[in-house]
Amino acid sequence: MTTSPLVLGPLVRYVDETSASVWVETRAAAQVTVRVDGSSWSARTFRVHGHHYALVVVDGLAPGSVSPYSVEVDDDAVWPPTGGADGADYPRSVIATLEPGKPLRMAFGSCRTSVDHGAGGNATHGVDALRSLALKMATDDTARWPDLVLFLGDQVYADETTAEMQDFIKARRDIDEPPGKELKDYEEYAHLYALAWSDPLNRWLLSTLPSLMIFDDHDVRDDWNTSYSWQQDIRQTSWWHERIVSGLASYWVYQHVGNLSPDERDADPVWQRIVTHAEGGGDDELDLTEALDDLAERVDEDPTAYRWSYARDFAGVRLVVVDSRAARVLEPDRRSLLDDDELAWLDSQMRGDVKHLFVGTSLPFLLPTGLHYLEAWNEAVGNGAWGERSATYGEKLRRAVDLEHWGAFQHAFHAVAKMAQEVADGHRGKAPQTVTFLSGDVHHSYVSEVDRPHWAGSSRIIQAVCSPIRNPLPRKMRFATAVLAYAVAGPIGKVVARSAKVPEAPFRWHNIAGPWFDNSIAVLEDRDNGLAVQWLTGVVEGDDHEHPRLDKVAEVLIEPR
Ligand SMILES: [Fe+2]
Repeated sequence: MTTSPLVLGPLVRYVDETSASVWVETRAAAQVTVRVDGSSWSARTFRVHGHHYALVVVDGLAPGSVSPYSVEVDDDAVWPPTGGADGADYPRSVIATLEPGKPLRMAFGSCRTSVDHGAGGNATHGVDALRSLALKMATDDTARWPDLVLFLGDQVYADETTAEMQDFIKARRDIDEPPGKELKDYEEYAHLYALAWSDPLNRWLLSTLPSLMIFDDHDVRDDWNTSYSWQQDIRQTSWWHERIVSGLASYWVYQHVGNLSPDERDADPVWQRIVTHAEGGGDDELDLTEALDDLAERVDEDPTAYRWSYARDFAGVRLVVVDSRAARVLEPDRRSLLDDDELAWLDSQMRGDVKHLFVGTSLPFLLPTGLHYLEAWNEAVGNGAWGERSATYGEKLRRAVDLEHWGAFQHAFHAVAKMAQEVADGHRGKAPQTVTFLSGDVHHSYVSEVDRPHWAGSSRIIQAVCSPIRNPLPRKMRFATAVLAYAVAGPIGKVVARSAKVPEAPFRWHNIAGPWFDNSIAVLEDRDNGLAVQWLTGVVEGDDHEHPRLDKVAEVLIEPR
């Protein structure tokens, strides 16, 4: 059996009306060529920790075109797969450029573990909603494809590893030594991404459906950057430095660089090295290891060192994707979910004059109200509002039950709430129909809405959550979560928050749909009659575990005022 020169991909990443960025990992240094019709575009690989990658920008395409493409690594045709190869049965991978004026249809979701798709994997992790969507798109001519998918965090789990990942770890180091079953270095991250993205059906999906991504905690570690003392503690360990450096360096390679438009990439300090190298006639493969490790180290020291957030414009719709993990300021006296630079950037992006303003943030901006206030109370207590001893307990509680969402960072919460209100009130351009926060992380899905006076021309402020794609809460915890989040925390949250002198939020909000706990992928659609969002899940018929049917969990239509 010959080994393919292609390790992973192709993934179609950033796409606009005339261009697409195609990402691959190759087995060795190579020239990678993408062919569409009679034209071709090429890029040399770059190297990181001995792995080889290329990002090929295909440009000059017609707006709204759907073009089958192929990939070559040097002279080897590697994509589409041929003969009996895995994935050869699926339709040809295409590059679909955005069509001017076409209303956006976008899938989104978060939290996806990578276990097998047979009876065993489905018993422990439920059916993979992404695979179910892929199967529908690959086999049903009538399927309506989204324009892209937005992955809102926990794309990979570097801390909770699968048996397959642990086998890889055990083959190279002593699993009884720290960090044990968790990831240690870049090599292990490369394998983790390979496990997540290489099963044939999901690989086909990512080769044909453009994707945008942002990390959440598990891409690095549970509770990543929850507090100053958490950071101080973990920095004492022997393994954290290598983990955070390889986590962020691999994130840049596997997720971040494909989020950027060609212009943004050209302005990126690390990417510029590739451009300069190519312009200087460098025919060899550039090694970015040091540059990326150095960047990762600086980012961990200083949240303002780099921006992982980005914004995209679609027909009449703006999407702003915010980094709610690495941009945190943790020092107790200046604690904020977003550093000042990041807040100023977000402030500049929060504008009207669009039909919908979407804000992608891995963590829900609006949690159930009670939980929001419990988090706010916990932050105040952790900062000493109830004295030093309570602060210690507050910190323990924060880590034990993940009190680390926007509510636990009141400074940034109030700043962003004000921005959203100003957009919704028409003070930042014409008010959109909705300002909608898109989030994941919490292992259940719901929709909530800010209570606002109804007047023509003002926006509805909405929170839509889709989590998990494949990592469900155990059944007995679902009921407890629903009761705690919606019934118990509701009445007590505000009372305890008041006792710690937490300022009231500038508005109230209430649940309008959910919670539901199914593995699901959401698809939102900008329609004439409003913003429609569907949550879709996979259902196994009989014992045909490999071919789940895509089924609707819920649908919500957010009508304009
Ligand atoms: Fe998370």
